[in-house]
Amino acid sequence: MTMPLRCLARTAAAGLVAVAALATAGHTAEAEAADTLGSAAAGQGRYFGAAVAANHLGEADYAATLDREFTSATPENEMKWDATEPSRGTFTFAAADRVVDHARSRGMDVRGHTLVWHSQLPSWVGTLGAADLRTAMNAHINGLMGHYKGEIHSWDVVNEAFQDGGSGARRSSPFQDRLGDGFIEEAFRTARAADPAAKLCYNDYNTDGVNAKSNAVYAMVKDFKSRGVPIDCVGFQSHFNSASPVPADYRQNLQRFADLGVDVQITELDIEGSGSAQAANYTKVVDACLAVDRCTGITVWGVTDKYSWRSGGTPLLFDGDYRKKPAYDAVLTALGGSGDPGGPGDPGDPTVSCTAAYTRTADWSSGYNGQVTITAGDTPISSWSATVTVPSPQSVSSLWNGTPAWTGNVMTVRPSWNGTLAAGASTSFGFTVAKNGSGAAPTVGGCTAS
Ligand code: XIL
Repeated sequence: MTMPLRCLARTAAAGLVAVAALATAGHTAEAEAADTLGSAAAGQGRYFGAAVAANHLGEADYAATLDREFTSATPENEMKWDATEPSRGTFTFAAADRVVDHARSRGMDVRGHTLVWHSQLPSWVGTLGAADLRTAMNAHINGLMGHYKGEIHSWDVVNEAFQDGGSGARRSSPFQDRLGDGFIEEAFRTARAADPAAKLCYNDYNTDGVNAKSNAVYAMVKDFKSRGVPIDCVGFQSHFNSASPVPADYRQNLQRFADLGVDVQITELDIEGSGSAQAANYTKVVDACLAVDRCTGITVWGVTDKYSWRSGGTPLLFDGDYRKKPAYDAVLTALGGSGDPGGPGDPGDPTVSCTAAYTRTADWSSGYNGQVTITAGDTPISSWSATVTVPSPQSVSSLWNGTPAWTGNVMTVRPSWNGTLAAGASTSFGFTVAKNGSGAAPTVGGCTAS
C-alpha cells in the first residue's frame, strides 16, 4: 500500500509538534488552572474547536486567538464540494490545505466538513444520471479523504440529508432524488475504506432536541448500527437564536444517540444574543455536552463575531475586536476553567473601566484652575464619574464640561454632554477654585464607568 507523499511528509512533522504541544500542556496543567477553552475542555476529556476560514489566517489577532484558545479546527467552507472539485475530476485543495496545515502544525485536530451535501454543490453534479452520480460521489469522497488521509479526526460524511418540518422525510437533492435513501449508506461505506482512522459522522441542524427530524436521524443511525453500516458519530450543528433556542431536552437527545453506540459532537455552535442571556445559553450547551460521556467535543462556528455567517446576531465567544465576551467566561467556567484568568485589567477581558488624571492648568494669587481628564479603558463606556475633594477652606466657583453633586467638600462630577467614550478615548472637565488662603492641591478620586 502506498501513502500519498503529502501524508508521509506531514505525519512526521505533525507528530513532532504534537509531542511538543503535549509537553507544554502538561507543564501548564501542573502550574495553573486551565485558562483557555482548549485546556479547560481537555481537562474534561473533550476538544474545543472553531470553524476557521483560510482567508483570515493572515490576520494576527485571528490567528493568535485561534491558536491560544482552540484545539480543533473545521474549515468553514474550504472542504466543500464547490471549493474542492469545482469541475469533475479536478481537485483544488489549496485553501483547505492552508487551514489543515495551520491547525496540524499547532497540534490541533481537524474536522473534515463535508463530503456529501446538497448545498455549495457545483452545478455539474446535478446534471449527472444515477450511475454517473454514484461514481462521482464515490470519487469525490475518495479524492478528499485520500488527500487528507490520516490527518482528519472526524469527517462529516453526509450533511443535512433530512427535511425540516414534521415529516421526517429525506431532503430532495441530486443524491436523494437519483440514488434514493441508500446514498447515505454508500457514502459511509466508501468513506470507511478511504480513511479507516477517521471517525465518520452524520451532521445536521434542527436535530438538537427530540423532534420529528431528530427521530428520523435516530432511526437511520439505529438501522446503520444494527446492520453494521460504518458510522461513528452524529454531529449536532446547534445554530441557536430566539426563534430556535437551546432545547430543554438537548442533553436527553444527545444521550439517546450516544446510547446507540456513537459519539456525539456539537459541530457548529453559535447562539445569537449578547451579555448574560447569551452566556447562560452557552452554559446550557456546555453542561449538556459534559453530562453525556460520549459527547466528545464542541466546535463553535467561527472565532469572532465580525466574521460569523450570522454576524448581525453576534453569536460567538469573541467580539469583533477579539475581546472575550461574557459568553466566553461562561463557557470557560462551565468547562471547569478559571473564569477571569488574567484578573482585572486582563487585555482579553471586556471590563468597563476608566481612569481620572488631574492637572492644575492655571494658578494665580487668589485661585487656580484644575482639569481632570477621564480616559475610557479597553471597552467603550456610556457614562463615568470621578470625585474631587477640595481642601478646606477652598471653594469651587465654577465648573465646565461636567455636572457636580456635593457631599461636604467632596464634589462628584458626572458627564454633562460627554459621557460616551470609545475604548481608550478621553474627555475632560475643568473647574475654578477660590483659594481662600490655601493653595493645596485637591484630591481626585478613582473613576467609575458604566
Ligand atoms: C456556512 C458558512 O458559515 C458560510 O460562510 C457559507 O456562506 C454558507 O455555509 N450548516 C453547515 C455549514 O453545515 O457548512 C454552514 O456554513 C452553516 C450551516
